[in-house]
Amino acid sequence: MKGSLVGFKYKIFTMDNSKSKSNEGSVTSGDNVSFWIDATPSISCEKPNQDINTEVLIIGGGIAGLTTAYKLLKAGKKVVLVEDGYIGSGETGRTTAHLTCALDDRYYFLESIFGEVSTALAAQSHSEAIDEIEKIVSTLNIDCSFKRVDGYLFLHESDKQENLDKELEATQKAGLSTAIVDETPGIKGGKTIRSLVFRNQAQFHILKYLKGLTEAIISLGGIIYTGARAGEINKEGAKVNGYTFSAKHIIVATNSPINDTLKMHTKQYAYRTYVIAGKIKKGQLPYSLWWDTGDQDSKLVSQPYHYVRLESFDDNYDLLIAGGEDHKTGQADQDGISQSTRYDKLESWTRNYFPAMEDISYRWSGQIMEPVDSLGFMGKNPGDDNIYIITGDSGNGMTHTTIGAMIISDSILGIKNKWEDLYSPSRITLKTAGDFIKEAGNMASQYFDWLSASDLKNTADLPSGEGDILSSGLKKIAVYRNWDNTLTAFSAVCPHLGCIVQWNKDEKTFDCPCHGSRFAADGIVINGPSEIDLHKIHIK
Ligand SMILES: Cc1cc2nc3c(=O)[nH]c(=O)nc-3n(C[C@H](O)[C@H](O)[C@H](O)COP(=O)(O)OP(=O)(O)OC[C@H]3O[C@@H](n4cnc5c(N)ncnc54)[C@H](O)[C@@H]3O)c2cc1C
Ligand code: FES
Repeated sequence: MKGSLVGFKYKIFTMDNSKSKSNEGSVTSGDNVSFWIDATPSISCEKPNQDINTEVLIIGGGIAGLTTAYKLLKAGKKVVLVEDGYIGSGETGRTTAHLTCALDDRYYFLESIFGEVSTALAAQSHSEAIDEIEKIVSTLNIDCSFKRVDGYLFLHESDKQENLDKELEATQKAGLSTAIVDETPGIKGGKTIRSLVFRNQAQFHILKYLKGLTEAIISLGGIIYTGARAGEINKEGAKVNGYTFSAKHIIVATNSPINDTLKMHTKQYAYRTYVIAGKIKKGQLPYSLWWDTGDQDSKLVSQPYHYVRLESFDDNYDLLIAGGEDHKTGQADQDGISQSTRYDKLESWTRNYFPAMEDISYRWSGQIMEPVDSLGFMGKNPGDDNIYIITGDSGNGMTHTTIGAMIISDSILGIKNKWEDLYSPSRITLKTAGDFIKEAGNMASQYFDWLSASDLKNTADLPSGEGDILSSGLKKIAVYRNWDNTLTAFSAVCPHLGCIVQWNKDEKTFDCPCHGSRFAADGIVINGPSEIDLHKIHIK
């Protein structure tokens, strides 16, 4: 279908989304295709063809950018949004879309860092973000299977019952509607499994939601360019595909900020998380959210946990979507657990609790940004007055980015937002110094890859469709063998701050173990903080 609203063209089209690349660019930020991407037509708009002057320039066409654009347009601002792939081709298209105020890190932890008053504000902000999404769905009449559901937090085998009680107390102090229940519905053995229930949470189909937002933005007079890559961001605007885009306000909603001049990369850490989805007969399970409390023995600062929900698949089946088995980006093998083993572990955990799940239909992975103190960074970029960022999803990016859109649109409209200080990207949280030192140590140790010998000794050993890192004297080279058997080579030095990238066999990307920049097999950057591609080189 082609649409032309207020003179501006956009296309919603069905393409072969089982491939992660189209002729027009990346459909998604990895080789595996999520259920959402597979099941939903892609959306692209025109490419830029001239210089632009606007009030607000938004960079990034995920939930953060689109929600902010919608809110500002409704308030009468002139908005241009640029996205270098398709709408939702970043992490938004790879999410599991729980809408919850059950944050990944426990409320009793937040209370110890921020105190009771700010913890209550955090709880309020996530609850109100769910309300905001519900309001948008209903105002725009978006058909995205939005549902209110309850969420159940149960103990990981390594965790202690008393922690559930502590979390009950902290969530209630924070003003949330929670309770301990002796039975957990839906999971095997649930009759004797205690859990903490969070009432009135929600879920939706994320890409149908983005389609609704896109249509609303265009009908409100907003302009969206896709296949439009921004760089050289400064207080005047940015360059987009070589054109000058000038704006009074610039919002960087690229998940990991690409205008990383003020070191946001030292305040948050990139993790990869894995998802499987399998069909289950309708009616076998209640629509709910389920999480375990995470592996307390993990040496990672952000302890991996499992997260599960249902989405309607067809008239007969639901899809059970389960995630977990996280690790730091670019460091999958450091625990000696390969990516395929991570999917196997996830499947075995899921079958243990949800034995009615049939064959696995989808598997994919995605990137999470973990802030050192657990809360997102949304507001003015440190040191800037008219450049804003939305980042630090902490696995709760649906709500975090919606809060970000609320804070930033208020700020641009001159309204003091009640959560602005809590989420300020300039905040300093001294009580997390221990975690900061641990993550900084992990980062620093990645530079030893400069000295280590690479596994690949000879490019002749590299099969088609695979990449690896080759040592050549003191140089490190990232090589990829194309499907036509030709080789492509790049410097393996990450253009951000010089770590050595690693081959991600699962998603067929080169991932940086330091701050999470990722590059497609053709060297093009797909996740910041790097703003630029891997440097191409010629090898014999
Ligand atoms: C597997 C997984 C499960 C998750 N589950 C949940 C969940 O259940 N609940 C929850 O709340 N959160 C969840 N999250 C987190 C949530 O999905 C993300 O935080 C959120 O989607 C991020 O949205 P965003 O708009 O900030 O980023 P993105 O969706 O990544 O959007 C950023 C966009 O910017 C574009 N871009 C980047 N650089 C440029 C440039 N130079 N020029 C132009 N465009 C550019 C990218 O192409 C991208 O489309 C999950 C994440 C993952 C990966
Ligand atoms: S992302 Fe910072 S060095 Fe690669």
